[in-house]
Amino acid sequence: MKATAIAHPNIAFIKYWGNRDQDLRIPATDSLSMNLDGLTTRTEVRFDPALAADTLLINGQPADEAAQQRISDFLGHVRQLAGVGAYAEVKSENNFPMGTGIASSASAFAALSLAASAAAGLELNEAALSRLARRGSGSASRSVPGGFVLWEAGETDLDSYAHSIAPADHWRLVDCIAIISEEHKSTGSSDGHPLAQTSPVQAARVDINQAYIQLCRDAILKRDFDAFAKVTELDCNLMHAVMMTSEPSLLYWEPATMAVMQAVQKWRKTGTPVCYTIDAGPNVHVITERGYAQQIKAKLEELPGVIEVIQAAPGGPATLIS
Ligand code: DP6
Repeated sequence: MKATAIAHPNIAFIKYWGNRDQDLRIPATDSLSMNLDGLTTRTEVRFDPALAADTLLINGQPADEAAQQRISDFLGHVRQLAGVGAYAEVKSENNFPMGTGIASSASAFAALSLAASAAAGLELNEAALSRLARRGSGSASRSVPGGFVLWEAGETDLDSYAHSIAPADHWRLVDCIAIISEEHKSTGSSDGHPLAQTSPVQAARVDINQAYIQLCRDAILKRDFDAFAKVTELDCNLMHAVMMTSEPSLLYWEPATMAVMQAVQKWRKTGTPVCYTIDAGPNVHVITERGYAQQIKAKLEELPGVIEVIQAAPGGPATLIS
């Protein structure tokens, strides 16, 4: 009763912020993302009747109480699905820094869903795995399929899952992640989602979501960078407008965040295919095409406040490795 899986984090171009059902993580809107190759979570799960409790090691260290509890709740769900009673030992390793705005919960719960379900003897198809991963972390539903991925919000547990709209090799984009702070974020996504509904801007965001999804999906399918850049930045700004106007207000940007955003828009005006998007933190995901990636990385490294730049191409699906 042991299995190991790997999964990649993802970056959303059309964002997930706010849930219609908080417990089931049924989101208020559809979201659209790209998996990040080279950044990987590897998770081993072993169910063992001799264990007295679930245990979780992250990068070799026992996880804090909140993380243990979140994993244990999730494993409880897997046990229920599989009719298994035993507790599990979970060992998870990330090859990228946590708490830097690279969503480690997405790759963590995608890898855990695959490893835990396989170790428990369940054979789940991609949609069922994506639904399971969603229960652990919403964005994890998008790290189950490969490449460019659409999570359709749905209305119930059964119809809220993600699927691929194009494989990883469809468009040679590169995410140049400008790291501005390596500190843990003050308000994590899970605490942030319930605040979305306190913002007067969220209703407008929900209203426009289908139009943005269609624009972004079409731009990706046609590899139309200009159209892609426009809707990706608009959706990012709109999500941050919701964050800033919720109660309490969430301000994730640092001065250096804004400096990168302005530089990116300036570079695009001079003809370089480049745009930004930002998750619940200060770091900026700067998206470009492969032929421009080295040039963009070098330019980002010159900006004040940028600590380092991590690059990632489109990545594949969550995969069982043993
Ligand atoms: C800003 O998936 O991390 O990165 O479901 O509570 O685990 P939980 O939240 P999470 O939220 C991601 C928020 C975001 C936008 C996105 O990835 O779509």
